[in-house]
Amino acid sequence: MTSTETNPVTQTLIDTLQDKVLAAFEAVGYEAKFGGVRVSDRPDIADFQCNGLMGVAKSRKMNPMEAGGAVLEALELDGLFEAEVVKPGFLNFRATDAALVGLVAASVADARSLAGKVDARKIMVDYGGPNLAKEMHVGHLRSAIVGHGLINMLKFAGHDVVSDVHLGDWGLQLGQLITQIEEMRPDLLDGGDGDELTMENLQEWYPIASGRSKEDDDFRDRARNATQALQAGDARYLALWERIVAVSKASLRRDYGRLGCEFTYFYGESRYQDMLGPIVSKLEDSGEAELSEGAIVVHLKEGKKLPPLMLRNSKGGYGYGATDLATIVDRVETDDPEFILYVVDARQKMHFQQVFLAAKQTGLNGRAVLEHTAFGTVNGTDGKPFKTREGGVMRLHDLMEEMHAAARMRLDEMDKIDASLREETAEQIAIAAIKFGELSHDRESNYIFDMDQFLQFEGKTGPYIQYTCVRIASLMDNAKAAGLEAGAFDQVSDNARALVLVMDEFPAKLERSVETRKPSNMALHVYNLANATNSFYQSNRVLAEGIDPAVAASHLGLLAAAKAQLELGLGLLGIEVPAKM
Ligand code: ARG
Repeated sequence: MTSTETNPVTQTLIDTLQDKVLAAFEAVGYEAKFGGVRVSDRPDIADFQCNGLMGVAKSRKMNPMEAGGAVLEALELDGLFEAEVVKPGFLNFRATDAALVGLVAASVADARSLAGKVDARKIMVDYGGPNLAKEMHVGHLRSAIVGHGLINMLKFAGHDVVSDVHLGDWGLQLGQLITQIEEMRPDLLDGGDGDELTMENLQEWYPIASGRSKEDDDFRDRARNATQALQAGDARYLALWERIVAVSKASLRRDYGRLGCEFTYFYGESRYQDMLGPIVSKLEDSGEAELSEGAIVVHLKEGKKLPPLMLRNSKGGYGYGATDLATIVDRVETDDPEFILYVVDARQKMHFQQVFLAAKQTGLNGRAVLEHTAFGTVNGTDGKPFKTREGGVMRLHDLMEEMHAAARMRLDEMDKIDASLREETAEQIAIAAIKFGELSHDRESNYIFDMDQFLQFEGKTGPYIQYTCVRIASLMDNAKAAGLEAGAFDQVSDNARALVLVMDEFPAKLERSVETRKPSNMALHVYNLANATNSFYQSNRVLAEGIDPAVAASHLGLLAAAKAQLELGLGLLGIEVPAKM
């Protein structure tokens, strides 16, 4: 296509065809609901299909083939598609070469690969959710990666997104830790050597404290009292707590930074402490909360089978439920979101059902729709919840270090890139392996964290997709050195057709990721795209002996377009592409 011609393709081929089919249905008076077009499940026969003729025929008591004939008659395909009606009553479509060429040109000209923008909605994403003192473990990995990928896609789609880490920085676990420190290192409570308050120490002390709480009644009582004293504002406890918070936050920020996760707010549960009393009193006054066996609860009208949401226990302590209600109140007051998405473990399902119902029936949620964006468990290769070789929980930091070391070893073995690039590249590969390992799975199912498999350069892995991009980049360099330049794609082969049709799906996959809150839709698209790109690459050698420069230009043009979309998709998944691999 020369620059004086205008491209007849301005949106994806499937959307273009959909418009045409609906126009034809309207012209012959068939109901639009039967006019849906989709990608064909028989690519050997058709690129797209419409299966609604049976529906039309049934509702009008006519022959589906006849209905198809009428639609064919009315269709204005503008040279972009070929259509046929096949028995017993399907409409099959093929994109013409002109359509495929036009799609690539349109996609190259648009940095968004033809993904339009939706009307912006204000969305709060609550993700991460680690607990202080304890370092993040692999279970928090899902929330971080799924949440971050989701935020990227929501933003790219056009939404107005804010996020909050919602740290567990205020419960009994802090009282336990403080009690342990008070007994073991009272000097630290009296302004003693702050250097001793390291993440390593906290991690060592916390399990001791939590273990003792389970066995030792006296310790448990003291921990409860310490928690209450802290929450009531005891100055010595508060000072220690602040130091614990500072150390823990620094460590968390480091881990999140490495994963590329960003947060609008790095708030913790402690932020809501002063709101709890007033909110509960107000609900009590209005009759929405009531006294039940000494506790204050909200009975759930719509959730008759659910236990009531506990706001305050009989000892006067406020729990997770009250904190989550207060958090909603705060978010409604500050950002007034239309949606709040909680990217949290599926095991908290009942808690969120209770909180959401209570918020709705008390009106505390404002205009916000509350959604639990739940995820399953990460298992080890033994099928049981992921552990270290020694059997303990694997901390996120250690996990990233191990993955990095393994990636580094691979690069050293392959010995293809400069030693000075290896550290940075190993990190990019390690993070891609972890993220794609997560994102290639539906968040609702459990998956097996298999470090060796995630790091492979072949198969459904992050490094495979990175490698596809790197390979094209290096082909471009070599072609240039051989005097070949990329041009507009205009040589349509079978492999090219298959590749272009995958590219055509990008906007739909983005939309699906956003609607289902499942970045896995985009991850699988990127994987399909990498496969189609590699097939094309292998059967259309650019550096072949005696290649026509015009053919080489078209091949290079298509590969550049595919690479741009691969990188766009990877970017949305939070995965970088190394310069070399
Ligand atoms: N800290 C919690 C946990 O580790 C997750 C917090 C999730 N967010 C919320 N608003 N409750 O289980």
